[in-house]
Amino acid sequence: MTKSLKTILAETGKVSFTNKEILTLAAENGFEAKDAYRLISSSLNRIKRGLYSLEAPAPSAPVAPQMPQTAMANIAFRGVASVSNDEVYVPSVDPTYIKWGEYNTIMKIIKSKMFFPTYIAGLSGNGKTMMVEQACAKVKREYVRVQISPETDEDDLIGGFRLVNGETVFQKGPVVKAMERGCILLIDEIDRATNKIMCLQGVLEGNPILLKKTGEVVTPAEGFNVIATANTKGRGSDDGRFTAASIIDDAFLERFVCVIDQPFPQPTIERKIVEKHMAKFGVEDSEFAEKLIAWSNVIRKTFEAEGVEEVVSTRRLCHIVKSFSIFSDRMKAINMCISRFDEETRTAFLDLYTKIDESQLNENGEIVEQTSVDDVVADYNAYNEEKEEAPF
Ligand SMILES: Nc1ncnc2c1ncn2[C@@H]1O[C@H](COP(=O)(O)OP(=O)(O)OP(=O)(O)O)[C@@H](O)[C@H]1O
Ligand SMILES: [Mg+2]
Repeated sequence: MTKSLKTILAETGKVSFTNKEILTLAAENGFEAKDAYRLISSSLNRIKRGLYSLEAPAPSAPVAPQMPQTAMANIAFRGVASVSNDEVYVPSVDPTYIKWGEYNTIMKIIKSKMFFPTYIAGLSGNGKTMMVEQACAKVKREYVRVQISPETDEDDLIGGFRLVNGETVFQKGPVVKAMERGCILLIDEIDRATNKIMCLQGVLEGNPILLKKTGEVVTPAEGFNVIATANTKGRGSDDGRFTAASIIDDAFLERFVCVIDQPFPQPTIERKIVEKHMAKFGVEDSEFAEKLIAWSNVIRKTFEAEGVEEVVSTRRLCHIVKSFSIFSDRMKAINMCISRFDEETRTAFLDLYTKIDESQLNENGEIVEQTSVDDVVADYNAYNEEKEEAPF
């Protein structure tokens, strides 16, 4: 019977291993990178960044008693899962994450421990949330992530009464917990909110907050900061792309110290992201990675020139890689992952991919030339113009 990778690790007599050691042992024993990643994420205990142990973690005390909470909240923690405190945590390092763009800016803000409300705006799926999460993971800062929807209100954010063991008790909301812990409050998709989020005005000034229902005043602990992400800058979405995007009150926006514009990653960066995901899913195919990047780049340029109405995000490229790992078929993977678009867009995207795919290969399937992205964009625009001129 073949030994598992875990057994092989155990037989070395060591307890802890670096990422590299695990990958090397895996390769030496005929395993693939994906087996090593699977073992790391499912069966090993993370000691610190890049170091993993075969031993189970020492039993830790429940999170709740460590937190500055009222007795009522402790009751809530024991009795009702939905009002537990597990929303405060240090995110784990994602080995597929590639630092780029404003990552260093966000990192400096987080490390400064200053109150510096920051708003990150950019198209969907270009890594805004992941950037904040991974910056917190890197410096082991606790963070609380609040997902905003049009239904989000003061009760969800600041807290409200909950039924616990037959009693009505006040439960602090995620914003208050983040203030008490001095951690990073990530307000995700803030432009999906209604004016109900105006309850955060004082919080965005770094002021203490009065819990009206209990009379308690909560002062933000050192290190507390707010980072918001959104697809728009709070002025709605002119092109109708983000139909749920709301217009955020100007006084509310005024409380953010800075707005960071997040574009899509540069092709060289995005290629690294795609290749990391390929390694994660065990489908290393650098030719496909190269073509996917050329393809998304053409689509984005055409999108900027208003030649197509949709765009392929970094997230979508990662979805394609995942599908490719299941179906081992490039066109099927692309086809499945662009099925959310309308038929015209799907056809345009597939045509573009086919063009890129064919133009780079000879009859032996070898890359013979590098297609210039600008050439393909020009061709594609010409094709669009022809289509518009034609009566049908
Ligand atoms: N820098 C990166 N390194 C590795 N993977 C990335 C990176 N950026 C984005 N991704 C991939 O794209 C996915 C989407 O990223 P994320 O959720 O941060 O996007 P977002 O900008 O917050 O999107 P939305 O506006 O829709 O919330 C990630 O789950 C990851 O798979
Ligand atoms: Mg996000």
